[in-house]
Amino acid sequence: MSSLTISLTAPNGRKYDQPTGLFINNEWVASSKSNKITSINPTDESEIASVHAAEPEDVDKAVAAARAAFNDPSWRDMASSDRGDLMYKLSQLVEANKELLATIETWDNGKPYQVALNEDLAEVAGCLKYYAGYADKIHGQVIDTTPAKLAYTIREPVGVCGQIIPWNYPLAMAAWKLGPALACGNTVVIKAAEQTPLSILVFANLIKEAGFPPGVVNVINGHGRVAGAAMAQHMDIDKVAFTGSTATGKEIMKMASVNMKNITLETGGKSPLIVFDDADLEQAVRWSHVGIMSNMGQICTATSRILVQETIYDKFVEAFKKQVSEVSKVGDPFSDETFQGPQVTKAQYDRVLSYIEAGKQDGATLALGGEAYKNVGDGKGFFVTPTVFTHVKSSMRVFREEVFGPFVVVVSFKDEAEALKQANDTTYGLGSAIFTKDIVKAHRVARKIEAGMVWINSSQDSDFRIPFGGVKQSGIGRELGEAGLAAYSNTKAVHVNLGTWL
Ligand code: NAI
Ligand code: MG
Repeated sequence: MSSLTISLTAPNGRKYDQPTGLFINNEWVASSKSNKITSINPTDESEIASVHAAEPEDVDKAVAAARAAFNDPSWRDMASSDRGDLMYKLSQLVEANKELLATIETWDNGKPYQVALNEDLAEVAGCLKYYAGYADKIHGQVIDTTPAKLAYTIREPVGVCGQIIPWNYPLAMAAWKLGPALACGNTVVIKAAEQTPLSILVFANLIKEAGFPPGVVNVINGHGRVAGAAMAQHMDIDKVAFTGSTATGKEIMKMASVNMKNITLETGGKSPLIVFDDADLEQAVRWSHVGIMSNMGQICTATSRILVQETIYDKFVEAFKKQVSEVSKVGDPFSDETFQGPQVTKAQYDRVLSYIEAGKQDGATLALGGEAYKNVGDGKGFFVTPTVFTHVKSSMRVFREEVFGPFVVVVSFKDEAEALKQANDTTYGLGSAIFTKDIVKAHRVARKIEAGMVWINSSQDSDFRIPFGGVKQSGIGRELGEAGLAAYSNTKAVHVNLGTWL
């Protein structure tokens, strides 16, 4: 075994070979300095492994590989159906290795194994397969003007794409970005988040196994302010796609201006979920629980502000507390009983606890939870009890700021106008949800909500066939669905003179 692979045994007993290097040109290479990123198991705070952290000069190497691959006829001139075949092969390899990849995801991120396997990995394989099908269906138009002119458009890849992904859905976020980028014929340098560096390195081996030419997909780990910033500012990267915090998104936008990169940003949220008094209360309660408490609340679209009509407020709060207490079982993410594992890192755990203090200080009522949870294993790990604040006002920090944890505020409203005012009283505009049995009201409110996505009578049921993205400070551009292709292709117009003779 090379020095850039180590043997590991996961907590569920699964043994595997973990690459630790940088994946450039389909080869494992060491970083140019000896800096490492150490991956921590958030369940017991133990060290899992250390991997190479890319420096700016390593980013240069990865970009050079991606540029050479972009210009190489073996990729550039490949038949689009053959490109689709490679992507389909990759999706099948993910499917075949899903238990291993889900194991690493759970170990490194802390998400329940059943979720990693049945939701995250299903999404990765499904999304790659979906975009594999698009590879040979991306084409331009003939535009009729006069008989003296033939005008047509060509959909071209953008070029070398830098993709910077977060830790909450490590492989799924990679798939959301790789799928459309590859379908459109781009080449890629993708950087994982330093909190979850492991699964994408195992995935990288599958890219080679699927038969992608060297340099088409380069996978690196690295610190955001070093490797991520080097990507955002790189003069030979044509596009940067980012998912993460709004603050970092703004920095990336500035850095990307050096060569006027094409950008796609998917950032934060404080998504509202509105429950009208004519809703099916039981369904509203169940979906609002899923909407904020899934994935330890670490979801950009989490419906973290529940707005309930005052006539049913008390009834809703009681039923919601009961649902959280009964369903949000906190524990070891490898146990099938567990609904909620640890927060991903100490920093995220501290962040959630600090917002619990902020809620108390600002005078909200702590209705449930509100403390660290120490009853897993020997008391270590970044566990937090699911937390519910009621009687929250729109001026409070817990109403305005993204917490990114199992933490929700429940607010009351009088009528539809006030519900909309509260829902839109935010700098964000990512997800939103409406519960009502009145279809006219549902569609009316859906149009007036300032958000990229609206769920009517559900929450978080995103789908890779449906566009995903935000308005306001929740981002720029769309991922997923057919709309996702627009982010990875340029339209070239060709004008052919058929008879305007001078
Ligand atoms: P972050 O936005 O700083 O990190 C996300 C990615 O950006 C990582 O790959 C990181 O290495 C990279 N990055 C960081 N600084 C960079 C820079 N200056 N230039 C280029 N790349 C850079 O988010 P972080 O610190 O992990 O989490 C903080 C908060 O962000 C969370 O509490 C949550 O509110 C939000 N967040 C939102 C996510 C989403 O899905 N929209 C995902 C992760 C975090
Ligand atoms: Mg970790």
